[in-house]
Amino acid sequence: RIAGPSVLVMFGVTGDLARKKLMPAVYDLANRGLLPPGFAFVGFARRDWEDQDFAQVVGEAVREHARTPYREEVWQQLLAGIRFVQGEFTDDQAFDRLKATLDDLDRTQGTGGNHAFYLSVPPKFFDVVINKLKEHGLAEESNGSWKRVVIEKPFGHDLASAKQLERVVASGFTEEQVFRIDHYLGKETVQNLLALRFANTMFEPLWNNNYVSHVQITMAEDIGIGGRAGYYDGVGAARDVIQNHLLQLFALTAMEEPTGMGADALRVEKEKVLEATSATRRFDQHTARGIYEGGWSGGELVKGYLEEDGIPAGSTTETYAAIRVDVHNRRWAGVPFYLRTGKRMPTRVTEIALQFKPLPYVPFNAHDTATLGANALVLRIQPDEGVTLRFGAKVPGTQMEVRDVNMDFEYGSSFTESSPEAYERLIIDVLLGDPPLFPRNKEVEESWRILDPVLDYWAGLKTQPEPYRPGTWGPKSAIDMLARDGVAWRRP
Ligand code: BG6
Repeated sequence: RIAGPSVLVMFGVTGDLARKKLMPAVYDLANRGLLPPGFAFVGFARRDWEDQDFAQVVGEAVREHARTPYREEVWQQLLAGIRFVQGEFTDDQAFDRLKATLDDLDRTQGTGGNHAFYLSVPPKFFDVVINKLKEHGLAEESNGSWKRVVIEKPFGHDLASAKQLERVVASGFTEEQVFRIDHYLGKETVQNLLALRFANTMFEPLWNNNYVSHVQITMAEDIGIGGRAGYYDGVGAARDVIQNHLLQLFALTAMEEPTGMGADALRVEKEKVLEATSATRRFDQHTARGIYEGGWSGGELVKGYLEEDGIPAGSTTETYAAIRVDVHNRRWAGVPFYLRTGKRMPTRVTEIALQFKPLPYVPFNAHDTATLGANALVLRIQPDEGVTLRFGAKVPGTQMEVRDVNMDFEYGSSFTESSPEAYERLIIDVLLGDPPLFPRNKEVEESWRILDPVLDYWAGLKTQPEPYRPGTWGPKSAIDMLARDGVAWRRP
């Protein structure tokens, strides 16, 4: 799957995401031979740069963050198509220069009028950039060429603002032209969820409320917010991660079998299960939110959230969030799905764990069964990519003692192929016009519909989230939330 002639235009090239992920991903794609010879990469920003200054920034990002080895000939080929357009997002002349640059590239690099506009900018600029693209005729597909727009989350702040954002996007581009990035969908292990469920016989028969007692979806990070105060404060853990990444993981876990792996077939099933889902009331019992304190974590003295640079005094932004959702359909009625995410947790880990029901009867002595745990299937999304099946086995010896053991599949030992970075996969799919890994607007709106009542409840409390020590699994209310249901969070 090699992309055809095209230009990737990136707005917001001075941001962290562009430097750490997007630029290296472009180089890695070139290095893997997946970009066409004439491929061009255009940066658009306020900085007073020439083409060569921008090329230098890209070069440094590549050397520092690319996954594939550096090869001079690949870099030289990429370099031939690198351009920079200087300007404000509101500046008509800058968009005229962008148009002239694109016309020139279409002539000299043979990119055929195929242009993808990647908006790696704060959402408040979506409106103006999209309008300018439209006004300058840059969104028009003529003579068989394509134009696409790529937008990054956050897709709004709540359901109402997401709808407003969608009106802006739809005013310039048709739904087929819009690619919304949720980078979790670009991860190999997330796509493997579909293979595990629908390419195997043995899991799907158990994948329902006859056998599953509950599901835990965890996305934990050991880092704090770093230098991202400007983005993070007022957003918080639930909007940053649950609304998008975790509800997408949830949808892929809970949805019915799609009729195919095409975009429409997948989206139909994801939308259906999201529509059938709501956050469990009572929110005082079935949600938890926390904020990390300062202290020692992993041998390091770290600042509390409120002491981080750029955080306003008295901020009520949560850095840990957990919610319980229920799915109102035959497959899942009675099976709680617990979703949690947090910064400054003990470790960086993302996993989906299906916890199976206890046996109705055990033919061993009671004291033997005390050591029997429940069976679990754990999809290890990252960083230790793989799948674990947990079950009881006899402890060697003269007694019938049973203990839980793990059966593991590890990507590293089963495959020689390395996983591409999520952004590589997503960028190539944009250039190929391949939409299955991009959420549709309806999925975004359904996710907000599920989360909004919880966010409203928290906002209404007007209190600070519950503090938790760095390097721990979150506030006490999170533990209580599951204890009330007679279960406990996993400690992956
Ligand atoms: C982003 C969030 O979407 O995902 C960040 O905004 C978070 O807060 C990041 O750190 C984590 O991504 P990954 O791929 O490292 O799990």
